[in-house]
This record gives sequence, structure tokens and C-alpha cells, in this order.
Amino acid sequence: MCGIVGILGKEPVSGQLLEALKRLEYRGYDSAGVATVENGELGRRRAEGKLHNLEARLSDDPLMGRLGIGHTRWATHGAPTEANAHPHMTTRVSVVHNGIIENFKQLRSELESAGVEFSTDTDTEVIAHLVSREMDAGHDPAVAVQHALGQLEGAFALAFIFKDHDNLMIAARQGSPLAVGYGDGEMYLGSDAIALAPFTDTISYLEDGDWVVMTREGLAIRDRQGAAVERPLQKSVASALMVDKGNHRHFMAKEIHEQPEMVGHTLANFIDFANSRVQLPDMPFEFSSLDRISISACGTAYFAGLVAKYWFEKLARLPVEIDVASEFRYRDVPMEAGGLSLFISQSGETADTLAALRYCREQGQTIVSIVNVRESSIERDSDAVLPTLAGPEIGVASTKAFTCQLSVLACLAIAAGRARGTLSEETEIELVDALSEVPRHMSAILRDGRTYDALAHSLAKASDVLYLGRGVNYPIALEGALKLKEISYIHAEGYAAGELKHGPIALIDETMPVVVVAPRDAMFEKTLSNVQEAAARGGRIVFLSDAEEKAAGCDLMAAIKLPAVHSFTTPLIYALPMQLIAYHTAVFLGTDVDQPRNLAKSVTVE
Ligand code: G6P
Repeated sequence: MCGIVGILGKEPVSGQLLEALKRLEYRGYDSAGVATVENGELGRRRAEGKLHNLEARLSDDPLMGRLGIGHTRWATHGAPTEANAHPHMTTRVSVVHNGIIENFKQLRSELESAGVEFSTDTDTEVIAHLVSREMDAGHDPAVAVQHALGQLEGAFALAFIFKDHDNLMIAARQGSPLAVGYGDGEMYLGSDAIALAPFTDTISYLEDGDWVVMTREGLAIRDRQGAAVERPLQKSVASALMVDKGNHRHFMAKEIHEQPEMVGHTLANFIDFANSRVQLPDMPFEFSSLDRISISACGTAYFAGLVAKYWFEKLARLPVEIDVASEFRYRDVPMEAGGLSLFISQSGETADTLAALRYCREQGQTIVSIVNVRESSIERDSDAVLPTLAGPEIGVASTKAFTCQLSVLACLAIAAGRARGTLSEETEIELVDALSEVPRHMSAILRDGRTYDALAHSLAKASDVLYLGRGVNYPIALEGALKLKEISYIHAEGYAAGELKHGPIALIDETMPVVVVAPRDAMFEKTLSNVQEAAARGGRIVFLSDAEEKAAGCDLMAAIKLPAVHSFTTPLIYALPMQLIAYHTAVFLGTDVDQPRNLAKSVTVE
């Protein structure tokens, strides 16, 4: 999964290509490259690592073409070296690619048998050779691309430029997102509208199977069968402004600190605070006629769904089937038509989540999504969307999007309980009042940065960390472990505290910190027993609780006092210490907090 961009401009385009690529870095950042056509000649510059390496390469050795393509990579086939960086090219064509060509091995061996020499380990290079071969056979670029597309299997978005063609770009979409942008005598192409926002707000989204021939004067879109099609023009609301870090050292820190505000916005969108009632927009289903909900998501968004399972089942007596989307989509889940499927995604582009959504649509489900990035593929494929109003999230490790997802899900669960008659009006008011206090409690936690900084010094020495939680806070323990792994590279595992005795307790000794999520709720005494079990084996406890004094007597690494809140809202509150522990530990270790190795913000490959 990668970001691609293309520009047919009036002036040299490499600066604009770089600007668009910066906005696509959330899709990958292990190498980058651009290619342009100048006086009929293809020229290319590539660099391993972050975009500034490519920027330096271009400033030493500029490209002056007024037509070009660019790419920022998240490696799937072939190591993230300069040789494997896109664009890939032959003497005739240069191509950038987002996605995976599933039959590339077969295509490569056919081409090699025919004498073609490959210079990279990528799946993409076969595309350049296929198109080249078609052009060698006398076909013009459009026919050559059309023939090559017919041989490709997989999910991809592609953009091509050609030697001797100073006013031609061809692009194709099958499974991976692609938008075209309309300028004044200029045309643009990008993996999303955000990349194009500095240049134009007039865009069309290509649909699966579409391929497009573009010149500065306009474009012609064809569908998979080759029939001319039109895709509606839209005014994009993506902002041309690059989001900055404000006075924070990292985007992640800024995003952690934005949570009181963004959670407040998101709640206000679904709550009538004056009357302490949840107010959802009209939905294309009735909670009262459902007998279950299915939820699919990936990564942090999946943990938000897992919290929601506890909420829906308890408050609305509504069974929830939840799975990570990469499993769900291949599990052949039996579904009765007319059911509700819920999808949770910050980016709205995660390939596995999108595929699970499409499976559910085929099974006759009503599709509702909770997304942060508007106009995304998941939003466009849904019957209804409940937006998280978290604003742009740039740090790869999700923070504010997670608590905003929880905020939406909390409102949805209350609405479900009311509609199904399992939640009284008084309880609705009580729960809504508890939600309305969340931003204030979050602000209080965020004022306590020093506690986490001190803890980070000890945690950074660990090579493994265990996170424990129970009930609705079990997913929060999972999320805490994920956060630490993602950005500090310390191995961490989240466990249901009651499962400790069924395995992980064997790992515990005096080198193992055990982070315990322990709000004083109905499970508190049970969790305390688990803490004692871990402490008795030498485990060094990090105790997070509103009753922190209860851990006295254990070998404590830290006891962190958290605000006493309603048990319903504890996942929203305890998510913050999970983020702060990971953040401060990563900063102490000096890792690349916002762009940790091997990860990407938006995972558009399976
Ligand atoms: C990637 C990101 C995670 C995110 C997950 C799901 O792995 O690094 O932070 O939780 O994708 O992404 P989504 O955009 O669907 O929420």
C-alpha cells in the first residue's frame, strides 16, 4: 500500500509532486520517487527512506518535465531499497502502483522466458514490461495499457507516463482508491483528495475497473468493458492546509492532547446535552428489529469495536459478533439478510475492512460505518455514516480517532438500549451525563505528563510488558499493549486479567512490568486478586486506578491515580494513560514516534 500522484501541469511539476507526496506519507514512507517527461524523454529520481531524501536528490539533480508521476512506498514485494522504489520504468513507459499484483510471479516468468530482464524484486515491474511489450507490438499507449490491465489480477491503482508523449497520462483503478482532479488547463491524479487539495477542489472518484486517459485539456474514462463512462464531479472538502504540530514535539502528542476537544465535538454531534439525551440522525435500520450486530475493523479500530460489544450486549441486550476484518472477510460468516453490519475505520480506506464491508453487502446487510476521513471509500460504500469528528490524525499510532470512535459507539449503544426497551430514560440520562464529563476528566489526566515521563524511564528498560484488564477494559489493555509495541518496539501483550493463570503467569518474574487497568468497578476485587498473583511472582506492577492505594504492598513500579468516573466511561478515560505510557516510553527510547518503522497510517493492501 502506497500513495500515488500524477500531474499534467503548465510548469515543471516535480515540486508539486513532492507537495502531494508529503500529504500521502500516511500511506507509507519507506522510499519515494518521481518521474517526468521532458521533451519526450522519461527522467526519474528515487530515494530510499523518508521524502526529504528524495527532496535532496531532486535539488541536486532536478527534473524539469511539466508532466509527471510520484510515489511514496510501503513495501510489499521487495525490500525498501532505492532499486525497488517506484516509479518503475522501461525505455517506453514509467509507472507508479499502489496495491498488489497477485499473479506477478506467473507474469514475470512468462516475460523472462521471452527474454525480458528484470531489475527489481517488485510486483510492479511486470506492469511496465507488459505495457512496453504491447507498445513494441505497435499499439498506442492506451491500447497497450488496456491489454496489460486485462492480464493483471489483484487490487491496484496505477498511473503511467510515456516516452515521446508530453501531454498524456493513463491511470487505472481496481480495488485501490484513485481520484482525478480538474484544474485550469491542468489535470491531477491522486490516491485521495487530500493529496490534490493544494491544487484543486474539483474531483471525481474513479470506480473499480475504471481506467482513464488524461491530457491537459480533459479526460476520457472507460469501465472494465471499455465503455465510455462519466463519474460525477464533486467539490472536495479536503483542506489544502497542511496540519502542523502546533507547539508539540510530535503529531502524536498533539493528537493525544486534542482529545478533550475532539471527543467533546464528537459527542456533541450525537447528544442533546441540554436534555441529556442521545440524538442520532435517521438510520436505515431499526434497533428493535435486530437480533444481532456484526462489527469488523482492524488494529485500534477493532479494539473500539470490542469495547462496543460489551456496551451493546449489556445496555441493549443485543448480541455482537466481532472479528478483525482480515479474518471476518474469509470466514464465510452466515448472515441473515436484513441484519446490521458496523464498520469502524479512521482512514475509511483499510483494504480488509472495505472487503469485509463488501462481503456483508452481498449478504444483504445494512451497512453503517464510523469513519474519520470523510469522502473515504468506506464512507462512500455505506448506507449511513456516523462520523468521528477527530480532525486529521497524522501520527501513525491512532489516539484521538480511537476515543472518538468510542464516543460514537457509546451513543449508539445507548440509542440501541432505548430503542429496544432495555434501558430506562433515567439510565440514559445518567450515562449521557457521565459521557459529558469525559472531556473534563481527560484534561485532568493530560495535565499529569510528568508521572508518565518518570514511568517511561523504568519501562524503557523492559523487553516485555504485560497489560491486564477485565470486562469492558480488557480491550483497553489490548490497546495499551498495541500502542507500546507500535511506537517503542518493546514487546507487549494484552490479556484478560482472569486468563493470567492460564499461561502468561509463567512469564512473570522481576524483569516483567505488568500494567493493570483497574478502575473501581464491579470487577475491581477480581482484578486486585490478579494483581496479587502477579506481584507474588515478582512482577513489577503499574497500577492504574481511582483506588490506587489498594495496590499498596505489591512491588509497584508505579501507582497512577486516575479520576473516579462512571464505570460506563472508563474505557474512554483509561485509553489516555495507555497512550501516554507508550508515547513517553518511545520518546525516551528515541524512536520515530509519528512514523514508526514498518507501519503505515492507512493500510490499503490485504
Ligand atoms: C493501521 C494503523 C492503525 C489503525 C489500523 C486500522 O495499522 O497503523 O493505527 O488502527 O491501521 O486503520 P483504520 O484507518 O481502518 O482505522
